[in-house]
Formats: sequence, structure tokens, C-alpha cells
Amino acid sequence: MYRTDHVTEESERTAFRKAEKKYKIYYDNAKKKKIPRPVDLSEVIDFRSILESFKRSGDLPDGVFELKCDFNLPVFGLVSRPGFYFIPAALSVEEQCHWIRESLTTFPQPPNRTNHNAIYGPVQDLFLAAKEGKVLVEEDKLPENVDSEVNLDQSNVNARHWNFVKLNEYCCRDACKSVSASALLRKLRWSTLGLQFDWSKRSYNVALPHKMIPEKLCMLAKRMAAPAMPCGEEFHPEAAIVNYFGLGDMLGGHLDDMEKDWSKPIVSISLGCKAIFLLGGKSREQTPVAMFLRSGDVMLMAGEARECFHGVPRIFTDPENTEITPLESQFSDEDHTSFLDYIQTSRININIRQVF
Ligand code: OGA
Ligand code: MN
Repeated sequence: MYRTDHVTEESERTAFRKAEKKYKIYYDNAKKKKIPRPVDLSEVIDFRSILESFKRSGDLPDGVFELKCDFNLPVFGLVSRPGFYFIPAALSVEEQCHWIRESLTTFPQPPNRTNHNAIYGPVQDLFLAAKEGKVLVEEDKLPENVDSEVNLDQSNVNARHWNFVKLNEYCCRDACKSVSASALLRKLRWSTLGLQFDWSKRSYNVALPHKMIPEKLCMLAKRMAAPAMPCGEEFHPEAAIVNYFGLGDMLGGHLDDMEKDWSKPIVSISLGCKAIFLLGGKSREQTPVAMFLRSGDVMLMAGEARECFHGVPRIFTDPENTEITPLESQFSDEDHTSFLDYIQTSRININIRQVF
């Protein structure tokens, strides 16, 4: 499973690993205050500023081209990475807020799975429970209305044991295990929509119960995928992985190679705090290209780019660098302080795939 990539001495020496180390957050402990060590960002491609100067003058830096296609916004490509496309500021602030809300409320709802399933079984209404200051408690008795003979798969067994309770109703009678909903929300790392991905086997498990990807997300993915689709074909979103990044989180270099047809793009949406994305080559030995990802940016990886290692070594959670001011004002206007609190130090990535 690539999220806990085993780091061997050998892989420590690759060009990809060197770039990860360059951009990863390190702290200088000055007077017990954690201060991020300064990092040289001069080589990081900034598609937002490329877009601004392109709109002003029509000029593009060496190595960047505009894809000629029927799309309402400029779509950029990199000469060195065929099949990779970047659509800066593809989503409006309203759309970004909508998908942040969905990513925190409906997307992690069962039967969609999250990283918490393995320990707690299906967890319902995590975001609401965190907002209400609830605690997930391991019950020592099965609820009476549950037939212990049915649904004996592991996730259902767990479901009968862990329940959210209000803090004032929670007394630790028999020293039962508990965890606060807000701690669980901070530790939410992924949820899967549509066909469920089994991280332990690194494959889609079509036998797992699942819901279709929500229609509105399907429509968005189809529209965004169009510039990278083979002529005359339509994208069919079948699965999506939602990644949640908090302070200090990163996504190690990996390939997404479990889908059948690599001519179909992966549509990747960035929300929340700014991040650095590394797009390597077909081997870890090739030096990756670094670029900023900001809230509302969309990337497409199709064709040869599907064979390229990539990862996210850094998210920016210090207020000067998150670049989410429009999101903050939108969420404060709407009085959604809990969304605001979450997104001020988090990034969400929704990547949508055609599996077959
Ligand atoms: C992934 C991935 C990139 C991102 O989930 O496979 O590559 O921008 N995500 O978070
Ligand atoms: Mn990936």
C-alpha cells in the first residue's frame, strides 16, 4: 500500500525521494515555537501566475503549452509530461465550498469506507459528532435489537460496539475505550466513493457494498475530463478517492495503476490549503517537476502521464501561505464555523477514476 511506502535505503537515494525531502515540512525549534524551516520554492511551477500573464499577454513560459480544446477555461500542458493537464482555478468559490461540505459530511458516510473502518467499523455522521463535541465509545454490550447471528463480517461486528455519545452522557463506567469525534475527524485520511478500493490488496473490490458516485460529482468529472478524453469518447466515473491532509501530512510518491484503461484520465480536484505536487517520470530516478496546487485547481492525468510517479510532499497550513481567503470569507458569511475551522489547516483532494 503506497500510503505507508516502505522506505529503504535504496529508495532514499532516488531523485523523487530527494525532491520529497526538499519540500517536506521540517521545523526549527526556536524558543519552543515550531517554525517551518524555509524552503526554496523558486523551481515550483505556479500555474495561477502563468494563467494571469497568459490572459494579459498571451505568453507562456518555455515548456508550457495551451491545449487547444473546446473548454471554457485555459487548459495547460507540460511538454515534458504528455497526457498531463492543469486547469487553474477551474472551480468557483461556491463550488469549492460545496465540495468541501460534501467531502466532510456525505462522502465519509457508510457504505463508503474510510481509514477509520478498520478499527471502528462504519462511522456515521463523524463531522456532526465532532461539531457537537461527541465521543465514540466502545460499548461492552451488544444493543438488544441486533441479532448476533447475522452480519458477522468484521465491519458489522464493530458497528455494534462503537457509538457516539454526548460528552455529558459519557461516564467511563467500565473503563471502556473512547475517542473524541474531533480527534477522529483530524485523523480522517481517506474515504472512497463508488466502487470501493481495498488498500490492503491494492485493488477494487466490486463485492463490497457501495453507492454510485453522486450524480453532481459525475457531471463535474465528465466536464473536467473532456479535454483529456480520446476523441468522441465520454468519461465514466466509477470510483473516487477523497484524501484529507492535515498539518504535516504528505502523500508519498506512487503510481495509480489499478484501473484497466490508462487512456482515460484521473480527474483530480484540489480544495483548501495550498500544496506542492510532484510529478515524476516513469521511474523514481527521474527528477520530478514541482508545482503548486491551490483550492479550485483541477489536474488531469491520462495516457503516458498515468505511468508517472507522483505525490504531495507538502501542504501549507500557516495562514500567510494557505491562499484560501475567498473560502474563508464565504464560510464565515454562511456562519459555518466548523467548516472554516477544518479547512484553515487542511487540504482535501478528490480524484475520480474510470475503473473499467
Ligand atoms: C491520489 C493522488 C493527489 C493529490 O490520491 O492518488 O495522487 O493531489 N492524490 O492529493
Ligand atoms: Mn495518485
